[in-house]
Amino acid sequence: MTLLTLNVNGTLHKLDIDPDMPLLYALRNQLGLNGAKYGCGLGQCGACTVLVDDKPVFSCLTPCLGLEDKRIRTVESLGSAEHPGPLQRAFIDAQAAQCGYCIAGMLMRAQALLEREPHPDEATIRAHMASNLCRCGTHLRIIQAIRAVAGQGGAA
Ligand code: FES
Repeated sequence: MTLLTLNVNGTLHKLDIDPDMPLLYALRNQLGLNGAKYGCGLGQCGACTVLVDDKPVFSCLTPCLGLEDKRIRTVESLGSAEHPGPLQRAFIDAQAAQCGYCIAGMLMRAQALLEREPHPDEATIRAHMASNLCRCGTHLRIIQAIRAVAGQGGAA
C-alpha cells in the first residue's frame, strides 16, 4: 500500500492504496464517486471515462500511480440530479439515455471535446465519440444532445 494524494473534482484526497489500483476502483470504492462505470475493464467500451488534465481516459486501465499531480474530473463535477450542468441538461432534453450505464462516460468524453472545441461539426463529434459505446443504441440522441450544446440544434 502507498499513500497517494489525488485531486478529484478540485478536492485533494489522501488514499492509502495499491498504487497499481485502476483509477476507476479508487473513484468508486475509495471515494464513493459511482458515476463512472465498470463495463469491459479492457478499454473497449468507455463506460469508465473520466478526464485527467482535461483529456478523456479509460479509468479502468489507468493506474493511480502517476496521477498525483494531475487534475481528475468525474461526471459528478458537471452537476447534480437537482442542478444538472448544460451538457447533462442537453442529454436529458434529448432523452439520450436508455439504461444509462454508458452515460457518465459519454458525458465526460463529450465534455472534453466541447472544452477544447466549443462548436464542433457533426463529423468531429462522431469521430471523437467513437470510442464510447452504447449497447442500447442511443448514439443518435447522444450526438443530438452534443450538437445542441455546440450550438447546432436540429436532429442528428
Ligand atoms: Fe473501461 Fe470499458 S470499463 S473501457
